[in-house]
Amino acid sequence: PWEKFTMAPPDPIIGLTEAYLKDDFPDKVNVGVGAYRDDSGKPFVLPVVRDAEREINLENLDHEYSGIAGCPSFVDHALKFVYGENSAPLKEKRIAGVQTLSGTGGLRVFGEVLNRFGHKHIYVPNPTWGNHIPIFTNAGLEVRKYRYYDNESCSLDFSNLIDDIKAMPEGSCILLHACAHNPTGMDPTLEQWKEISNVAMEKNLLPFFDSAYQGFASGDARKDAAAVRMFVEDGHKIAVVQSFSKNFGLYGQRVGALSVVADTADESQRVVSQLKVHIRPNYSNPPRHGARIVSKILACPEKTNDFVDQCMGMANRIDGMRTTLRKALEDLGSSRSWDHITKQIGMFAYSGMSKDEVIALREKHHIYCTLDGRISMAGVTSNNVEYIARAIYDVTDK
Ligand code: LMR
Repeated sequence: PWEKFTMAPPDPIIGLTEAYLKDDFPDKVNVGVGAYRDDSGKPFVLPVVRDAEREINLENLDHEYSGIAGCPSFVDHALKFVYGENSAPLKEKRIAGVQTLSGTGGLRVFGEVLNRFGHKHIYVPNPTWGNHIPIFTNAGLEVRKYRYYDNESCSLDFSNLIDDIKAMPEGSCILLHACAHNPTGMDPTLEQWKEISNVAMEKNLLPFFDSAYQGFASGDARKDAAAVRMFVEDGHKIAVVQSFSKNFGLYGQRVGALSVVADTADESQRVVSQLKVHIRPNYSNPPRHGARIVSKILACPEKTNDFVDQCMGMANRIDGMRTTLRKALEDLGSSRSWDHITKQIGMFAYSGMSKDEVIALREKHHIYCTLDGRISMAGVTSNNVEYIARAIYDVTDK
């Protein structure tokens, strides 16, 4: 019955891990998927996550279903984490929140809800995380792009970004990366966010923040939430999707939250009810373990401090690797400027390498990064950074 099935292309990001695993070259490097590695190249479980897990195990909890909206205490903590303890709409119970299958699940649920309530399109930055486009397309939305990045200067294309927002039809939904823009690693400054907020307000846009790197971008979770909090203070009725994959290192646990700021507490309850209508036939209810871990940590000030330190440790290691990689390329005498590697923040270096250079890097040097030239700095270590620099130099300078 499946003879009409052709072989689908591999996923542009996860497919790289599959190819990397099949490669038997001893010095192969996976800098494709954004997943943190310690300096010896191993996956890293935060010690505070291990502590929380030990405590949870001792509690002999059951494995009953979660509610459709997930674990209420997790949702409470997740919302405080992104909006801030003193957020006015949070105190007024005006924020509708549900647990989701990490960021991806929340994006899909909200995409469907948008579509159902009359949105026919959504604007995403160009470029954006590759998965945004199929997620929203599959949710039934037309995906439109606004200009975001200037490849020539390797920086934010701010004036075109503003022009494109001004040209959006009134009431459109605009996806914004809350911090550590993926793939470019270039975020607006606070002044630029203010301008985006003002223009979005004039056009009555619905800002939808994807917050996948809170705490991971600067090492300071409050600072990384600054844009989200500014928009709320400015009076926008935003939506936010949160992932706890990177900051808590809980990739495979699929821990996330989706929230919507409403006008009243009653309205927020009605919004939750509609989010649940989309979750139930999709995956029924979310998994419990990862949400329990995050709740346990964020419920305890001491554990939260440990989390902050350990998240900062990951951010600092990445920062160090940015400096080392850039210096290694400069020391090799590269004719290109690599300043942007240290200007960008978060998990990725948007290297500026062409598709052909990326393919050469893979075929000649067994280094796997995405075709847009994005390098996951989280996979760069003291042991492989020289090898990566020499290989990049080889494919870009010869
Ligand atoms: C990435 O961009 O590499 C990560 O967000 C992982 C993923 O699911 O694509």
